[in-house]
Amino acid sequence: MQTVNTVETLREAVESLRRTGKIAFVPTMGALHEGHLTLVREAQKRADHVVVSIFVNPTQFGPNEDLDAYPRRMEEDSRLLDAEGTALLWAPDAAEMYPQGFATNISVSGVSEHFCGGARPGHFDGVATVVCKLFNQVRPDMALFGEKDWQQLAVIRRMARDLDLSRPHVDAIIGVPTVREADGLAMSSRNQYLSSEDRQAAATLPRAMRTAVAEILAGQPAEKALVTLETALLAAGFSSIDYASLADAQTLEVIDRPGSEPARLLVAARIGSTRLIDNVAVA
Ligand code: PAJ
Repeated sequence: MQTVNTVETLREAVESLRRTGKIAFVPTMGALHEGHLTLVREAQKRADHVVVSIFVNPTQFGPNEDLDAYPRRMEEDSRLLDAEGTALLWAPDAAEMYPQGFATNISVSGVSEHFCGGARPGHFDGVATVVCKLFNQVRPDMALFGEKDWQQLAVIRRMARDLDLSRPHVDAIIGVPTVREADGLAMSSRNQYLSSEDRQAAATLPRAMRTAVAEILAGQPAEKALVTLETALLAAGFSSIDYASLADAQTLEVIDRPGSEPARLLVAARIGSTRLIDNVAVA
């Protein structure tokens, strides 16, 4: 695996890979776990070469968020990616990504505004801007993202469609189902912040979500099923719920009950000092 740290060396390395086949791109912030590695394996199946980026993007963290504490494990990550057969690791630093005078911001309205966008102002501007830059730097044939961050995937697809991106085209932005621990908790770099007691209680989140989906599909109004879900989370030891909503899977507009379009149940809740998010299809 080759590792590059400047846009210029990245361009050369990518052009040389492109001569011998299709490129799939997996953007990450590192501290890799099975969720990330599943994206890499899925990328391997679909393309000839896999490019992974590791960049802890400061602009998507709010002032009181965990940017400084965010785990950084470049050596171990690099070993894991190499073992998966990754061709190229793109690991710029903040000065390479945001040179002096950087002044452009991509803001995707509508789909960015509720849920994590409401709870974390500016977060999706940071994500959309960095992902657009990463796309322009790597110019992949396809890019893979986890459904774990459902709203992020919806924002990126909206941006790719609205800006007529061609590398990757919106149809080549691939969502990969959430990888979960044995007890159902969605894998996340933030799970390691949980105490062992909170880690056990955290499994209530996916369980309560499955119950809510069953109730909604049985005809219960979402509002009622979501009250039951919130009560279960608080009883299990969660301290607060940022949101728990039923939404149109694509536009993320809140809905009362599933209609003809795919629906998604989305939840963000806090346990200890950790904020966990999860989402499931209501189908
Ligand atoms: P990060 O949180 O490192 O996640 C990188 C990719 O891994 C994202 O597409 C995310 O959805 C996916 N992922 C994380 N946990 C997963 C799981 N349990 N199952 C499946 N996929 C999972 O998301 C980001 O980084 C950043 O916002 C980024 C897109 C890199 C822009 O900075």
